Amino acid sequence: MRQRLSLSRAARLVGVARSAAAQELGAFLARALQSVLGETAAPTALAVMDDMLRVMSAHVVVHPSRHEFFVDGADTILDAALRSGLALNYGCSNGNCGLCKVRVVSGQVQKVRHHDYVLSEAERQQGYTLMCSHTAVGDLVIEALESAEPGDIPAQQIPARVKAVQPLGDELMLLQLQTPRANRLRFLAGQNLTLTAGEASAQLPIASCPCDDRNLQFHVARNAQDGFAQQVFGSLKAGDSVALFGPWGDFVLRADSPRPIVFIACDTGFAPIKSLLEHAMALESAERLHLYWLAAQSTGHYLANLCRSWAEALDNFTYVPVAAEQCDALELVRRIGADHADLNRFDIYLAGPEAFIHAATTALREQGFPETQLSAAIF
Ligand code: FES
Repeated sequence: MRQRLSLSRAARLVGVARSAAAQELGAFLARALQSVLGETAAPTALAVMDDMLRVMSAHVVVHPSRHEFFVDGADTILDAALRSGLALNYGCSNGNCGLCKVRVVSGQVQKVRHHDYVLSEAERQQGYTLMCSHTAVGDLVIEALESAEPGDIPAQQIPARVKAVQPLGDELMLLQLQTPRANRLRFLAGQNLTLTAGEASAQLPIASCPCDDRNLQFHVARNAQDGFAQQVFGSLKAGDSVALFGPWGDFVLRADSPRPIVFIACDTGFAPIKSLLEHAMALESAERLHLYWLAAQSTGHYLANLCRSWAEALDNFTYVPVAAEQCDALELVRRIGADHADLNRFDIYLAGPEAFIHAATTALREQGFPETQLSAAIF
């Protein structure tokens, strides 16, 4: 049977080919350069050659996890790792704290951003570098710490600005916040954040991927009892200040699980599910991803076009919108079981209102679904 590839996986394979080609090209140019300039080729000439090669992708392997990613052009190693969904250890993203220090096992790096943090002579001798200030010159192997658990990420207080407030229908707003460039939010997909605007606060699930740690999204439902929601629907506008505190919660991906995944969202439970989905897509570790989105409220499938565009672009993703009148939680679980006879091989993530989560998790448990593969969050 013909093996189908996801677009991103295909892009990675192209990247591997480009990276191998870059190395061959590099070796050829080095030989040609040496024959012209002699054995004592000027370092500056070789540096020019390195610059040429850096327009290609560099392949990076992380030890001990063996995670892999690509660095394009002059991207920093940290930015490239985050975009690939990896939760590498870091702090300020700005060359000040030293928390993004990693040891280069093989390969070369080049400084692309200023950093105030000073590595000791011993650290430099051992090959340590700062990921937020350096890019990869050719393929690289690094030793780096990764966050696997919510407890690995400290609570942070960050002053953010409103980038945009956009309606997603009459009853829902998309709130987009941006952190300062030098003070981004470290979080895991699926976590919550406390937002404060003026006197009003709310704890909301982050609806975007940690692969972009500066631009954060939230889905805010109209609620007359909620002062923060009233501000979002009333007065909050681009440029206003919103204080961030967090992240909180353990509704996060089992990042190293190789199992296929079923995501089940009910209404605005789609917000944390979207974050998990985007993270899973960036990681490319799951062989198949399925989204079932039950819309029981008037907000409906408010980002259906986004879900359809994922389904069109990715061979390993399916999207099943379910209207409330067609299905309740029990029937939805039966339907998923009918769609996937091998359901016990999957990890399942559910998010939505309490009654829905209770009914769906009870139904899954009664049909013998493994507890360790089930994660649920009430919103
Ligand atoms: S993240 Fe702070 S120095 Fe790199």
